[in-house]
Amino acid sequence: MKYFGAEAREAQRYDRSVERYEDASIRTYTSLAVLNTGQAVIFTLGLTATMLMCAIGVRNGTNTVGDFVLVNAMMIQLYQPLNFMGMVYREIKQAIIDIEKMFGVLHREAEIKDAPDAKPLVVSAGTVRFDDVRFAYEPARPILKGISFEVPAGKTVAIVGPSGAGKSTISRLLFRLYDVSGGRILIDGQDIRAVTQDSLRASIGMVPQDTVLFNDTIRYNIRYGRWDAGDAEVEEAARLAQIDHFIRMAPKGYDTQVGERGLKLSGGEKQRVAIARTVLKAPPILVLDEATSALDTHTEHEIQGALDRVAKNRTSLVIAHRLSTIVGADEIIVLDQGRIAERGTHAKLLAQGGLYASMWNRQREAEAAREKLAKMADSSEAPNREPPLVDDPVTTPAAAE
Ligand SMILES: Nc1ncnc2c1ncn2[C@@H]1O[C@H](COP(=O)(O)OP(=O)(O)OP(=O)(O)O)[C@@H](O)[C@H]1O
Ligand SMILES: [Mg+2]
Repeated sequence: MKYFGAEAREAQRYDRSVERYEDASIRTYTSLAVLNTGQAVIFTLGLTATMLMCAIGVRNGTNTVGDFVLVNAMMIQLYQPLNFMGMVYREIKQAIIDIEKMFGVLHREAEIKDAPDAKPLVVSAGTVRFDDVRFAYEPARPILKGISFEVPAGKTVAIVGPSGAGKSTISRLLFRLYDVSGGRILIDGQDIRAVTQDSLRASIGMVPQDTVLFNDTIRYNIRYGRWDAGDAEVEEAARLAQIDHFIRMAPKGYDTQVGERGLKLSGGEKQRVAIARTVLKAPPILVLDEATSALDTHTEHEIQGALDRVAKNRTSLVIAHRLSTIVGADEIIVLDQGRIAERGTHAKLLAQGGLYASMWNRQREAEAAREKLAKMADSSEAPNREPPLVDDPVTTPAAAE
């Protein structure tokens, strides 16, 4: 709000909502007042009439004074519960609405359910295979239109492609956050729809594109990867993810609170916590979705080493924009508009001169430009002048454009 100077506008919006609420509650209270007054008037008239009738009866000798007292007491006893009626009715109505809503939530079917005969996933080698996978979040707009590839056990496959191509969707499907609408996904020959979700998710480690942390300590957030890990293991994972330096600098160390969703950490720090937590989990299958996108080139380089060690002998699926991080992959898949546009090793794709080659060249151009700037700065350097600052610019294709 502050970035867009929208405080006044938001306050007005809030005011309007509060106004509607005020109107509604005034109407409620007015109707309640009318109801109560009406009741009181009717009752008072009724009481007066019966009392008068009774008094006349007493005078004529047809009623006793006892009858008079009885009628009076009975009428008052009748009136009191009647007085509550309005309120009780309202409460009952509200409670029924609440209960209906609660049952609505309870009766909602989960979209992803374990099959009745689901067995635990048995990961022997860790081969992941996508077999003509089709998927759409909304039926009108297919995102994946028949994707087939295999990540052989212990190998690394990289997925690259323009933003919105469906790369993160592939990782969500592998985790079975959604079910495919066509084709199938196999892990060591087992369809992921036929195994239990618990066992599936226990076998895959994921560094997601946008890290969300829990509002607790750093230690808690790293240990989230493997709940029974000891302090030494947590610290080792932090060291591998290059976050230990930051933690040592923080006055409270591992007990530093990260804030709501991790807002007290920088983007790169959050990402490194996410990496540490996956390192700790040490799953047989690894999915890295832009795992180092928020880091500077130097830190990225260091972490890449750690990630390579973690990925060693593990099946890994790596999604990246910065192509220099995936040149070593066993296969690179270029995804475009829900289809595999190109596939092969880095060298083969470059030789092919297609989409990948043009993406690579554009990134090379950015790097070349940076080198040139650095050279210019060196040569124009006057003896008594500081060289102009060359910051670390354009490293992602989006920025390069
Ligand atoms: N929950 C959702 N409901 C509807 N559409 C979605 C949903 N999540 C993603 N999409 C759409 O699916 C498409 C693919 O999204 P995805 O996150 O897989 O892209 P991506 O290739 O990872 O892109 P990026 O490189 O920007 O991360 C996008 O166009 C997006 O708008
Ligand atoms: Mg993505």
